Amino acid sequence: MFSHACLPLLLPLLLLLPLSRAEEGLEFPNFDGKDRVLDVHARNYKKALRRYDMLCLFYHAPLPASKGLQKQFQMTELVLELTAQVLEDKDIGFGMVDAQKDAEVAWKLGLEEVGSLYVFKDDRVIEFDGELSADTLVEFLLDVLEDPVELISNAMELRAFERMEEDIRLIGFFKGEDSHYKSFQEASERFQPYIKFFATFDKAVAKRLSLKMNEVNFYEPFMEEPAILPGRPLSETDIVDFVQQHRRATLRKLRAENMFETWEDDMDGIHIVAFAEEEDPDGYEFLEILKDVARDNTNNPELSIVWIDPDDFPLLTTYWEKTFRLDLFRPQIGVVNVTDADSVWLDMSNDEDLPTAEELEDWIEDVLSGKVNTEDDDDAAASRGRAGGHAASEEGGYDDDDDDARGGYDRGGEEGDGDD
Ligand SMILES: *[C@@H]1O[C@H](CO)[C@@H](O)[C@H](O)[C@H]1NC(C)=O
Repeated sequence: MFSHACLPLLLPLLLLLPLSRAEEGLEFPNFDGKDRVLDVHARNYKKALRRYDMLCLFYHAPLPASKGLQKQFQMTELVLELTAQVLEDKDIGFGMVDAQKDAEVAWKLGLEEVGSLYVFKDDRVIEFDGELSADTLVEFLLDVLEDPVELISNAMELRAFERMEEDIRLIGFFKGEDSHYKSFQEASERFQPYIKFFATFDKAVAKRLSLKMNEVNFYEPFMEEPAILPGRPLSETDIVDFVQQHRRATLRKLRAENMFETWEDDMDGIHIVAFAEEEDPDGYEFLEILKDVARDNTNNPELSIVWIDPDDFPLLTTYWEKTFRLDLFRPQIGVVNVTDADSVWLDMSNDEDLPTAEELEDWIEDVLSGKVNTEDDDDAAASRGRAGGHAASEEGGYDDDDDDARGGYDRGGEEGDGDD
């Protein structure tokens, strides 16, 4: 399905190959030119569903007329082709579903969001609403291939579990495979791979976690103590309902694998966004303060802070700096209006002086009460641009194409602008 128009993109990579073959052991895959991604339509989709362990369908808008947009489209196809190539041995099928030509298939399969990728595994459909790059997609699909529940049976595995503070995790203690574990397992399938489920059949492990038989604990990211799910034993529905009610964490890390889903889950039109590089001393300190604030406010259902580590999104860093008029070499916290990307940021320009947890809490309170908002300063926007200095950009630069971005092709990791 992959047209020759993309060849010029690949040529530079190919030309480098003969020069760099001194040693083996580090070889990035290049697209080998073999078509693996199916054009899925009414006559072949059922067969495709039957044929593979897992079927991965990209639901896309019709091929655009403009050349630039066509190139973006081809880059998206290339991401899928490369993913299919890398995962060739895994019995995963890949296909494209055209929202216009294949509307009937889309309807039958329940595909709704144009620009999303749907994974069909057993009787389930898992939506991938993340960055469409081959790295992210491969990682995601490998996670989906695994068992949805990971068993913990010794102290070493327990330590690894305890270190996963960025993830939403559940852990349950059961007698064995043939027990109330079954409902836990069924529940886990509903959230795979976004929410991690662990179980133990081992008394010593359960004791270390103070888990009683058939009890399930829920760990919110960055919290020290878990919440105990009420009731024992729990049905699948009990567990699913609890997770759905609690999955929006007080502090959550933006991740490539579900970044669009996180961004869509705003707080009445805004996000509180914190930028902090964990590897950077200031960023690390700031993050520790944020965690304290989150722990103090974990029972506030209004509050959810999105933490972005710019290191995880190198392709977006300059875009964010321009859109928000920020210096992302420093930690930052602010409010972003998700409709127009208008934003205000807490003044932390003095390097020596990160805010204390109390100051940060006061500021967050002001945000939640509306005292700090993105609207009040709108007249002063021009002067702020001047004062902010480095990134004078045309207004917003986000909402003009936001709708297209949600619906279309430029969600690829390659950040193609489409016109050249
Ligand atoms: C966000 O921006 C839109 C458009 O400028 C505006 O109508 C809306 O009131 C803003 N929302 C908040 C919560 O400030």
